[in-house]
Amino acid sequence: MNNTLAVYPGSFDPVTFGHIDIIERASRLYPNLIVAVLGNSAKKSCFSLEERTDMLRAVLGNKKGIEVDSFDGLLVTYMRNKRANILVRGLRAISDFEYEFQMALFNKSLDDNIETVFLMSRAEYSYVSSRLIKEIAVHGGDISSFVPHIVVEKVHEKLQFN
Ligand code: PNS
Repeated sequence: MNNTLAVYPGSFDPVTFGHIDIIERASRLYPNLIVAVLGNSAKKSCFSLEERTDMLRAVLGNKKGIEVDSFDGLLVTYMRNKRANILVRGLRAISDFEYEFQMALFNKSLDDNIETVFLMSRAEYSYVSSRLIKEIAVHGGDISSFVPHIVVEKVHEKLQFN
């Protein structure tokens, strides 16, 4: 039995099909997976922490072995408290590499027990980003190929009240 606990951290502002694909593939490799959402105080986000975690929970349902949680502060501290040592990240394109490489090395130097594992994004999601999805929606574009239906609704709701 593989008892390894893996963490897939991110802003998920909002969750996209690209994230969901990584979550599904990571949970096949690591049957115990925490999807860890970066808290409100850390980074300016469009959706509140509660909205982001609610969307993830709605989209993922009750999948066995997948938990949605949130964290603030250093990711390595959160992982240490959870006794998790696998950090999963998705890599879309070369442009992601530099930032991801830097983060992985910093995290490794902060805690040598942590191993960052990268999953390559599927080609069809390799250009999908939460930031551009919001931009497309603001300008009236169709985002339904990139995010689940419930997220499309939440994005439109958010735009109405902004
Ligand atoms: O989805 P994102 O915004 O690319 O995810 C970035 C995230 C949440 C993984 C990163 O910002 C993070 O780990 N933040 C927590 C603070 C931290 O530990 N920073 C040091 C990383 S080197």
